[in-house]
Amino acid sequence: MNRYRIAVLPGDGIGQEIIPQAVKVLKKVGEKYDLEFNFTEAPVGGAAIDIAGVPLPEDTMKLCQESEAILLGAIGGPKWDQLPTHIRPEAAALLPLRKRLGLYANIRPVALYPELVAASTLKEEVIAGTDMVVIRELTGGLYFGEKRREKTETGELALDTLIYTTEEIERIVRLAFETAKGRRNKVTSVDKANVLESGRLWRETVMKIAPDYPEVELDHMYVDNCAMQLVRSPKQFDVIVTENTFGDILTDQASMISGSIGMLASASIGGKVGLYEPSHGSAPDIAGQNKANPLATILSGAMMLEYSFHRLEAAQEIKEAVAKVLKKGYRTADLAEAGKKILGTEEMGNLVADEIR
Ligand code: IPM
Ligand code: MN
Repeated sequence: MNRYRIAVLPGDGIGQEIIPQAVKVLKKVGEKYDLEFNFTEAPVGGAAIDIAGVPLPEDTMKLCQESEAILLGAIGGPKWDQLPTHIRPEAAALLPLRKRLGLYANIRPVALYPELVAASTLKEEVIAGTDMVVIRELTGGLYFGEKRREKTETGELALDTLIYTTEEIERIVRLAFETAKGRRNKVTSVDKANVLESGRLWRETVMKIAPDYPEVELDHMYVDNCAMQLVRSPKQFDVIVTENTFGDILTDQASMISGSIGMLASASIGGKVGLYEPSHGSAPDIAGQNKANPLATILSGAMMLEYSFHRLEAAQEIKEAVAKVLKKGYRTADLAEAGKKILGTEEMGNLVADEIR
């Protein structure tokens, strides 16, 4: 089958600007590889609150369920920050979207395009040649455990629960081992087993599964040490697997190895429909100014071709187009060295699309 239905959810802030760039690039690659994409747009996040009163309208949910893949921009912004948790865009749209679609695995590749070595704040000898993928558990842990607030005599108390089951750990860890088999055969499992009970279950479960993958080398690392190792010697990592909150924090940190969080693509998989979104947020400070880097979203489009449609050649074509544009010296503001010419969001999208012929 060459025909694919894609739900397009631009969301908030720069989501509105970066999504059209990724759509443009997907259309271009579709023409070349004879893939027919049927894009249908729907509101989500603050944008949906403004139109429909809720951040995840049932129509949007239905569209997602009936599509083969979802392309998402970003969710949230200051306009909706003061809303209570049950309607706030992040908690009431993005998290239920992930949960209801069964997207338990979030894959974030962190690699450095050699041309971008100067864009990173880290030293060249530390980051050159880094190539890892972080696999983050996405539908468990603190994000989805019981939450509560209560008045106390002197103020309030707030509770979040970090909960994991053997099954949740097992399926994400197996995915990490499988991923490593197609790469450099190394898994680093990141936990806080020295303090957290959930961390101990995590580590025990990983150790139970490891013998099924004798060809893969396994390391365990505490999350605090991992944060340090990521900036000390990131080349040691091939596949990192970790729980939801740790994965959220570590991937923002790891993004600096690739030059900018504007380069960090992501795929959320595990259910019938895959969700593809940049790892960064809605960046309200630069929204609406044609300043945002669209490359993470464009590269998320490449991940869609790979993970949802198994069109590896077409995915590779997008990655190469991005590499060519960077090689020619084109940069958005987040990547530019001082004194270099800076391109806008749309110009960057056009250049990438133009490389696909
Ligand atoms: C991410 C984001 C989200 C998360 C927010 C927007 C809820 O930071 O995808 O990393 O914490 O998962
Ligand atoms: Mn995050």
